Amino acid sequence: MSASAPSVAVHADETVTYATARERSAVLDALIDEQAAGDPSRFRMLTGDRPTGPLHIGHYLASLRNRVRLQEKGVETFVVIADYQVITDRDSVGAIGANVQGLVLDYLAAGIDPSRTTIFAHSAVPALGQLMLPFLSLVTDAELRRNPTVKDELALSDGRPLSGLLLTYPVHQAADILFCHSRIVPVGRDQLPHLEQTRAIARRFNQRYAAGHSVFAEPEALLSEVPLLLGTEGTKMSKSKGNVINLRDTADQTAARIRAARTDSERRITFDPRARPEVANLLTMAGLFLEESPESVAERVGDGGALALKAVVTEAVNESLAGHRSRRLELARDPSHVTAVLREGNARANEVAERTLATVRAVMGMSY
Ligand code: TRP
Repeated sequence: MSASAPSVAVHADETVTYATARERSAVLDALIDEQAAGDPSRFRMLTGDRPTGPLHIGHYLASLRNRVRLQEKGVETFVVIADYQVITDRDSVGAIGANVQGLVLDYLAAGIDPSRTTIFAHSAVPALGQLMLPFLSLVTDAELRRNPTVKDELALSDGRPLSGLLLTYPVHQAADILFCHSRIVPVGRDQLPHLEQTRAIARRFNQRYAAGHSVFAEPEALLSEVPLLLGTEGTKMSKSKGNVINLRDTADQTAARIRAARTDSERRITFDPRARPEVANLLTMAGLFLEESPESVAERVGDGGALALKAVVTEAVNESLAGHRSRRLELARDPSHVTAVLREGNARANEVAERTLATVRAVMGMSY
């Protein structure tokens, strides 16, 4: 950093550990329960997905179900379809239209209600891009370069050089979160560095441009309780590995995928994540859908072996998703409904974002 670069205070306490984030999430969850009856809008929530492909059961268990749960408590919810984020780590947007359509279908089938939840696409809200400019002035390049998620994504991006978009994506994600003054951000553990960056941006904006007034409150991460699910052969779920069960898959496709899942040669089924990770993953999957502990699923299968275990998992997944899948098929018959949901969500998000941008410009003395 050169001597003339703006001084951005980087505090040691910004590296919040996972344990602290967990504790804060538990407190936040309790507060939501307490406040939801009174003034749920106090806890406006924003979360989102990149439209890179179909949502799988990991998304459903860790994220979709939780969004619906909070919506039902009356928390005012925004869901961003982060389409510009698709090209942070790849050269083309791919089948973006179909992917966006698919996301909305899964949201609606899961119970996200567009009359209470604003579903919008990043690219449809120009004010988000403009908010990013003052936000960029509040972060250093060193801070962006050491973001662990950005580093991981760079490592996974097939040797591509670090693009300006990948480097700055924590900052546009901060705009996603702050434009609607979201207080709660349900995210996976991998997104925690972005949340910390967002908190720093909110804090620094207030200090530097708003004379300490709270234009932006610092949002909190709400971490999922759900353990990470692996793919059917025991490594990270990934489309390219073909180890994923998608929400839109049929019951037969699901059965075939589980039949092909890797297990081990031990007959008696036990839950031992260290020694038997593939079996443990299948038990976790069944347990999450059946709302039962993986140990008790293991006990039930007992000496039945891998075949019996797979039958239990298949039935658990397919029965739990039957309603979702039939609603999804039904909704897919009318693509104009999805278009209308998005159009309305985009309009609402634009209204909120324009208002925030107007405040930001006024605070910065830029309302001419
Ligand atoms: N980066 C998130 C992901 O890859 C998606 C996302 C975009 C997001 N904007 C967000 C998540 C704002 C939470 C808040 O999953």
